[in-house]
Amino acid sequence: MTAAIAQLLAHLWRDYTSLTPQATRIHALLGARGETVRNDHVALRTFDVLGLASLAAPFEALGWQARDRYRFADKHLHARYWQPPDPALPKLFVSELCVDEFPADARMRIAALLAQLPADFAPTPWAGRPWRVTRADYEALLEVSEYAAWMAAFGFHVNHFTVDAGALTTFAGLPELNAFLVANGFVMNEAGGVIKGSPAEGLEQSATRADAIDVALADVTVRIPSVYYEFARRYDGFEGFVPASADKIFESTDARR
Ligand code: NI
Repeated sequence: MTAAIAQLLAHLWRDYTSLTPQATRIHALLGARGETVRNDHVALRTFDVLGLASLAAPFEALGWQARDRYRFADKHLHARYWQPPDPALPKLFVSELCVDEFPADARMRIAALLAQLPADFAPTPWAGRPWRVTRADYEALLEVSEYAAWMAAFGFHVNHFTVDAGALTTFAGLPELNAFLVANGFVMNEAGGVIKGSPAEGLEQSATRADAIDVALADVTVRIPSVYYEFARRYDGFEGFVPASADKIFESTDARR
């Protein structure tokens, strides 16, 4: 790993753990068992109006290459992943909300956020929230899309890191890893079952429920789900993602559940 790549990943990890105390604790618990944690992928979110490209730019500059695109019709998302220059490094997964697919009220609220940005705005993965947003906006968006509400409240941050469970040496599989997390007090996302996907699909995934943290909006501070930790085990050299599984993983930040 080059110094520039190490610096990029360290920056992302700092940004991520600033929003989720659980990630640092899980990382430490795995380390205490003698595990060296490798990450399968890191996930970012944006609005389609801004495009996936600017979030991927720091990765592409260091050798990540764009691969498959995905569509999540129910959640009104497009996504794409990037393959790292070295298989020991995490893939990049970026999703974007298809704003035009929402009712007029939600479109107007999102447009009002984007209207606050300079014309040439291109977010970095850790840009944070570059707009003022009120509780009324957050709650109205939450009615139609958890993802839209999360973007409005948090802006640009790492949404999750994903432990490569296949690289762990002290767990037989994801069920044992999940049981270990539950025994240590973590709450798993059970939407679609704790484990999404299957060996036949090439990918099994599970995720914690996001920590709730205090977020200062323009008018009031709210306590809402931030980001979560994900766990993935791959089979038979499968490198992509399984839309039906990812669809349920997105619900790990759902404030309505
Ligand atoms: Ni993921």
